[in-house]
Amino acid sequence: MLTCYDFATARILEEAGIDSLLVGDTYAEICLGHPNTLPMTLEHSLTLTEAVRRGAPGAFLVGDMPYLTYQVCAEDAIRNAGLYMSRAGCDCVKIEVDQRLVRIVEAMASATIPVMAHLGLKPQSIQSVGGYKIQGKNAGDALQLIEDAKMMEDAGAVALLLEAVPTEVAKVIAESTSLPVIGIVAGPYVDGQVVVLHDMLGYGGGHPPRSVKQYARLHETMIAAFRAYAQDVTCGAFPTHEHAVAMDPVEYEKLRKLLDMRDSPPQGTS
Ligand code: KIV
Repeated sequence: MLTCYDFATARILEEAGIDSLLVGDTYAEICLGHPNTLPMTLEHSLTLTEAVRRGAPGAFLVGDMPYLTYQVCAEDAIRNAGLYMSRAGCDCVKIEVDQRLVRIVEAMASATIPVMAHLGLKPQSIQSVGGYKIQGKNAGDALQLIEDAKMMEDAGAVALLLEAVPTEVAKVIAESTSLPVIGIVAGPYVDGQVVVLHDMLGYGGGHPPRSVKQYARLHETMIAAFRAYAQDVTCGAFPTHEHAVAMDPVEYEKLRKLLDMRDSPPQGTS
C-alpha cells in the first residue's frame, strides 16, 4: 500500500501493480504545507479520493476519514463514511481509534461500512499525545495496544493499520488476529506495508524519516529538470519549431497581405 493523492499518480501506481492506495490525510502536510493533518476537510478528502479512484479503478482504495468526521457520533461517522463508499468508490475507510471509539466502529460495521482501524501513533491526536512518538514501548502500553486491536476485531473492523509501534508488539497483534494488518514503522511481521509516497520517492524536500527506505531521489531529479528548462528558455533552446505550431502557408500569405493593406491603405479613395 502507498499513499496517493491525485489521478496522474494513481495511474502510475496502478500500472506498477501496487495493490492498495490510501488517500491519506497526510495530504494536509505533504501537499498543503500544514504542520499536521488536522486541517484536512471531508470535502477536500472526498475530491482527492474520487480522483484517485478514476486513476486506479482496480486498486483496493482506502479513504482516510479526516479529523472530527467520525469521532463526534456514530451517525456522523456512518454518513461521512458512506460518502467514501458511494461517492468515491472506496473499498474501505480508515479511522484512527482506541478503545474509546469501539462503539463507533461497531456502529459503522453494523451499517456495512468496512473499517480499517488505525492504531498506535494516531496523528489526529497529536495535540493530546504530545508529538510523533513510538507507541506501546513499555509493557503496559503494549498490552493496551494489543487489547485495543482485539477490541477492534470484535467490533467488526475488517483490517488493522499499526503506526509506529515496536516490531515485537506488531508481531503479537498480527499473530493474534485474523484481520489483515498493515504496518508503517511496525516492522516486517505484519501482512502488508504502507509508506507515504513522497517519502519513498524523495519528493518534497526535507529529510525523509529514517524509517523510510528511499527508492528514488525525485527532489534532485526535479531540481535538475527545472533548472534545465529555465536554462533552455533563457538561451532559446526551447521552444524550437518542433515544439511549436506553424500556420498554413496559404493562410500566412493572406495574413501578410492583410497586414500590408492595413499598414499602407490604398491612397485617393474616400
Ligand atoms: O494519512 C496517512 O497518510 C496515513 C499513513 C501515514 C498511514 O495515515
